[in-house]
Amino acid sequence: MEKIFDHKKYKAFPAVKKANRRWPDNTIETAPLWCSVDLRDGNQALIEPMTVEQKCHLFKLLVDIGFKEIEVGFPAASGPDFDFVRKLIDDKMIPDDVTIQVLTQAREHLITRTYEALKGCRRAVVHVYNSTSTVQREQVFQKDRAGIIEIAEQGARMVAEEAKKHPDTEWVFQYSPESFTGTELDYAVDICNAVLTIWKPTPDKPVILNLPATVEMSTPNIFADQIEWFLDHINNREAVICSVHTHNDRGCAVAAAELAFMAGADRVEGTLFGNGERTGNMDIITMAMNLYSQGVDPKLDLSRSDDIIRVYTDTTSLPVHPRHPWFGELVYTAFSGSHQDAIRKCLHRRNDNEPWEVAYLPIDPTDIGRDYQEVIRINSQSGKGGVAFVLEQEQGLQIPRWLQIALSSAVQEEAENNASEISSSQIWSIFQKRFMTQENGWRIENYRLEHSREEDVVEVGLSCQSDRIVIQNSGTGPLDAFSKGLDKLGVHLDIIDYNKHALDNGSDARAVSYVHASVNGQRYCGVGIDRDIVLASLKAMLAAANQALSATRAVA
Ligand code: KIV
Ligand code: ZN
Repeated sequence: MEKIFDHKKYKAFPAVKKANRRWPDNTIETAPLWCSVDLRDGNQALIEPMTVEQKCHLFKLLVDIGFKEIEVGFPAASGPDFDFVRKLIDDKMIPDDVTIQVLTQAREHLITRTYEALKGCRRAVVHVYNSTSTVQREQVFQKDRAGIIEIAEQGARMVAEEAKKHPDTEWVFQYSPESFTGTELDYAVDICNAVLTIWKPTPDKPVILNLPATVEMSTPNIFADQIEWFLDHINNREAVICSVHTHNDRGCAVAAAELAFMAGADRVEGTLFGNGERTGNMDIITMAMNLYSQGVDPKLDLSRSDDIIRVYTDTTSLPVHPRHPWFGELVYTAFSGSHQDAIRKCLHRRNDNEPWEVAYLPIDPTDIGRDYQEVIRINSQSGKGGVAFVLEQEQGLQIPRWLQIALSSAVQEEAENNASEISSSQIWSIFQKRFMTQENGWRIENYRLEHSREEDVVEVGLSCQSDRIVIQNSGTGPLDAFSKGLDKLGVHLDIIDYNKHALDNGSDARAVSYVHASVNGQRYCGVGIDRDIVLASLKAMLAAANQALSATRAVA
């Protein structure tokens, strides 16, 4: 029977035979020249290509982010692209430090129409390409090597001649041997040299040679070898800006661009979130954030992540995966207890003047407009550290460890019962119900404290539905006095642990008291909040007593 899933159908991509491989020792210390191809390659891959209005919206975002080169379309092949280019120029939407780029095939009528679209533009990159791989040459174009070089030469010549007719624009030429990754390296160099012979670039007026991984066919190290080999053999290297344009068929477009940059490329083309044909183009956000997280200025402002996502999704109708590197909704969120604990400890110890070093958070999420509230989210996998972090962030509570343990099991119970995430307001409500106020429990209506050298006397008025009692007792302090007085409710309470702290600043700040008590032989935690610290403590004790009473009622 014929085998369907048969790896023998495929062959391995050959390694580049290379004696002096240098790029693995290089490090990335600066940003490449970026070129966004969102409005061309990205747009061509959309189910519904962008309207002129959407393109304007995305163009503005790209400018705001800081792109200095933006490929805006294929005006000779698409009416909306032509109109968009005209609009950018006629409505003076292109800032002085931004250069637009347009794509065209190496065919006369397309090149003429391309220049029509660009009339009046201050500066533009004209990007001409033809396919060069063995598969394209032999099966699609059915031409030999020389025949394909002729197409490239003709395109280069027409581009240069047409440019001369429009001397008011500063022209930059770009050539791509499309399907470079499937092209023999010596042939890729030959065809690019042929184009250079026509364009005659100089270091002052360089041209761009853009080497596309039109289809990603190998591991990224092989792509880097291809780039280093190409640059070692190309003529007039100092007059060439070497650009790479990687696609993501194997999921390594970013890695390939990074290694290619280490191998000598100067410029990187890509798109936001890697939109593009098939599995997409190289994701510029990921590569730029990779640089940023290594202390390298990416020369792009990615601080407004939510705005970027909003414009991207509005204009492309594509979602951003919640686990998308750096920008996904969940990438700075920890659900697991041990991760939450580690994050919380690192954030507490963190000194703002030192380099960022926080477990599980490769960057500070606030750099891209996320806040710490989103970092720790609670579900049934979460632990005490996470729950404590949420209450500290939202309510200012510094919960002692023994209370963290009790609270986290209460929250976990709730999460397991609901089989879902627990929001911070749910955690606060669980906390209040469990440790502060009990339904049908006793409440303090009023209290009076008499303090003397020898002892304290407390008188506390309590109510529970229609019942009223007054507890009056003396002790070594108000808490001791009140705990003795609780005998009147049938409660024997010994304090095991006690913590307190101010919740706000100022003279009328609220205080919070945490009491860990043995009540009738069982352990309970109670919490009280009040502007009066004594009353906060009495409330905490009563909360623990109420839990014991309610447990006794439940058993009875
Ligand atoms: O992927 C590709 O090869 C391209 C070229 C036109 C540069 O998009
Ligand atoms: Zn492409």
